[in-house]
Amino acid sequence: MFNSRKKFIQQIGAGLLFTGIPSVAPAEKLFEGAVDPADFESDGAANDEQYWKKIAHKYYIVSRDYINLENGYYGIQPKPVLQAYQKNITSVNAEGARFARKVYPEKVTAIKKELAAFLQASDEEIIITRNATEALNIAIQGYPFKEGDEVLICQLDYFSMIEAFRMLEKRGKIKVNAFDMPLLPASEDEIVELYRQKITDNTRIILLTHVSNINGLIVPVAKISAMAREKGIDTIVDSAHALGQVKFTLPELGSHFIGLNLHKWIGNPIGAGVLYIRKERIKEMNVLFGDVNTAEENINKLAHFGTTPFAVTMTIPESIAFHKLMGVEKISARLHYLKSMWIDELKQVNAVEIVSPRDMTCAIAAFRIRDKKVAETADYLFKQHNILTVNRALGKEGCIRVTPAIYTSADDIRKFVSAVKTYVG
Ligand SMILES: Cc1ncc(COP(=O)(O)O)c(C=O)c1O
Repeated sequence: MFNSRKKFIQQIGAGLLFTGIPSVAPAEKLFEGAVDPADFESDGAANDEQYWKKIAHKYYIVSRDYINLENGYYGIQPKPVLQAYQKNITSVNAEGARFARKVYPEKVTAIKKELAAFLQASDEEIIITRNATEALNIAIQGYPFKEGDEVLICQLDYFSMIEAFRMLEKRGKIKVNAFDMPLLPASEDEIVELYRQKITDNTRIILLTHVSNINGLIVPVAKISAMAREKGIDTIVDSAHALGQVKFTLPELGSHFIGLNLHKWIGNPIGAGVLYIRKERIKEMNVLFGDVNTAEENINKLAHFGTTPFAVTMTIPESIAFHKLMGVEKISARLHYLKSMWIDELKQVNAVEIVSPRDMTCAIAAFRIRDKKVAETADYLFKQHNILTVNRALGKEGCIRVTPAIYTSADDIRKFVSAVKTYVG
């Protein structure tokens, strides 16, 4: 027990000690007995149902009266994180302005350092936003475009970022060039080559959606960013769905502008995102929320927000700690396994078209049924089988996005496969 406890403390404290950054609370006190380190000691192989069942039942409170395969919307907080959040809400409420004026500023500074260490960035390169949309709008609308600049996007990018660029186009600031990404690319190199071919002499920015919210495609951000940089082109990376679902660090993406959130795959309460801007690029950014007093090279000039959700931000250390306990490798492998289970079954059904490349996706993948409307299929699954999925816009036909989470069981996936087979007949 002592050894597991020691390992546990090392696991959740790792990174902080390494970077010399003080933890917001001593690591061993974070969960105050709400977590048993021994639960996380097994390898947790992707197909180890016993392991994942135990984690699901002990650490997640989820509705069991429907099967949630729409975890792409937001993630369920693990129980110990939820408890920490509830405590934070209560104390913020009881303490009132004294807390906000005297305690929070120091606390949030420490949290930002901890978050930066987790992302392997400097705290001078990140701001905490309310979500990824806010983070990316600050980058998109603050980017110092020049007349004639063009932006490259594709149909698998997230609609809010497309709209932000389209809005700038409507205002006459830029031209947007869009192309259709193949739904089943054969390799990463094919994707890099596609972007290379679509670049024009005026391309200034490529929007990259790290993990597509539509069909789950994981694009090779580092390779595309490197190719673009050679041509003096910037990438703005939307990693909203990548953080916590797939393994990466900010520096290895090679992009100077990255937006993320913590409420999809990190397990934080809803309402926290991150904008990363490489240090030397901050100076040239225009501010979206009025600010004239902060130094041009200080990233805080971009964070002139009003009152923010204190309790959400205060829970970030627990979210990161719990996520680290499981480890992104284990999480990723389990999600890939659950996704592959249904794809491998349904690809054999004639009427089903899988629109995601099985091995270039993680949790998220999508399908459609020939000659059936996607909205009707999703509706059928929910009404007849209590299985929640979501239909998404994708070309003329659309698709149905399926997103398991780590508390999803292999049995849930079998029920989903069986429901689709019944529908197809
Ligand atoms: C790819 C992608 N980017 C951005 C967002 C927006 O994230 P947020 O809700 O944090 O603004 C989403 C949300 O679903 C998304 O899927």
